[in-house]
Amino acid sequence: LYIGVDLGTSAVKLLLMDGAGKIENIVSKEYPLSFPHPGWSEQNPEDWYVNAVEGIRELTANCDRSQVAGISFGGQMHGLVALDEQDHVIRPAILWNDGRTGKETAYLNEVIGKEKLSQYTANIAFAGFTAPKLLWMKENEPENFAKITKIMLPKDYLAYKLSGVFCSDYSDASGMLLMDVENRCWSKEMMEICGVTENQLPTLYESYEVVGTLKPEVADTLGLSAEVKVIAGAGDNAAAAVGTGTVGDGMCNISLGTSGTIFISSRNFGVDKHNALHSFAHADGAYHLMGCMLSAASCNKWWMDEILRTKDYAKEQAHITKLGENNVYYLPYLMGERSPHNDPKARATFVGMTMDTTRADMTQAVLEGVAFGLRDSLEVARSLGIQIERTKICGGGAKSPRWKKIIANVMNLKVDVIESEEGPGFGGAILAAVGCGEYASVAEAAGKLVKVVDTVEPEAELVKKYEEKYQKFRKIYPTLKGLFQ
Ligand code: XUL
Repeated sequence: LYIGVDLGTSAVKLLLMDGAGKIENIVSKEYPLSFPHPGWSEQNPEDWYVNAVEGIRELTANCDRSQVAGISFGGQMHGLVALDEQDHVIRPAILWNDGRTGKETAYLNEVIGKEKLSQYTANIAFAGFTAPKLLWMKENEPENFAKITKIMLPKDYLAYKLSGVFCSDYSDASGMLLMDVENRCWSKEMMEICGVTENQLPTLYESYEVVGTLKPEVADTLGLSAEVKVIAGAGDNAAAAVGTGTVGDGMCNISLGTSGTIFISSRNFGVDKHNALHSFAHADGAYHLMGCMLSAASCNKWWMDEILRTKDYAKEQAHITKLGENNVYYLPYLMGERSPHNDPKARATFVGMTMDTTRADMTQAVLEGVAFGLRDSLEVARSLGIQIERTKICGGGAKSPRWKKIIANVMNLKVDVIESEEGPGFGGAILAAVGCGEYASVAEAAGKLVKVVDTVEPEAELVKKYEEKYQKFRKIYPTLKGLFQ
């Protein structure tokens, strides 16, 4: 048996899989997210660990625990977790959707320069990346910065607590802006720019490599054997790509989680010359390009929870009947936006309501706005000559039939639905199985274990209508941008 841990932003989701890919159990544990200032986003790493431990105990309560062989992770990316000499967390983790580093990001992109950054790391700076957060801490919390002994990413904190090994993997470390992605090593130049040294950074592994075993006292608490292997794991998007079979050349996965991503796998290293898409290592030993929206399913959650005050998302969405006919537009930038605008100050807005606008029109506009935002990144990929005709889909938003249909038609892609939408958790479990030698490679495991159960086809008439809508949508942000500064 293998455990996949999806360390998300709203919850940790744990998945138990057998060697043949059958999902035996899933457990989810929520924890708080705090926004101490507008645009800031933090979490307490101890909450991740406590909930993961409780979750693993619950997950394995009814199975033969001696059969658990390995555990691995898909973790929210870019978060800065800093430990002191005694291994205490110095301050709350600064997350991937935190926009406080506008100044530091501008310094990196404009003073160090995008060309240099791209040469050192294959990427430019975005506000959520880890390196600008280190610069922010150095400037704003020098006493905390001076205490840093270990810098790690969220899922690496779990691996460290479970195994005692200070490690990360290439896919997740790609998002720190401290790693030379093409050569899969830390960048000396970036370490110098950020004022950190290599011994403050974790040892890098491939996502499917074993880093160690459970610490005996942790194994006791979990009721598992101390021989259970801990496998490095991946950033949640790379893990989700594994969990949806997005490995090899030119495969695509869309994730509709708190963030929204479009992930394009590639055998070879490549950089987006427009610097809108990230160029990161993949969990199978290869590479990928990715566009990331900071608010995707979270736009829907905000709309339903805060504004409509309903928990029945499906009932609310069932009132959507006029696909392609909506005159209301929604800009999905509740936390600023990463791809392709790189603007932490961008904000969400509705445009175009009239007296006859209904609640369903607004609900529909939210789903369409996210689909248009993803299309923005797809357009960048298309401009690089990448041809994509179909995509996999995963994440909480993938449960919604209307949203899948909107995505298929806005993007003009065939959308393949996988048996389980638990992308990162399933991918994490697959990485654990590969690490334990159950499969020879990630590609082999994904090929055998991931099953497509349905395909949502775009419809010519709707594609045409959405094309017109998209051309209008893309004019809204440049028009309003000045208001958000
Ligand atoms: C990717 C990104 C998000 C988080 C979400 O670059 O920032 O998708 O990984 O957990």
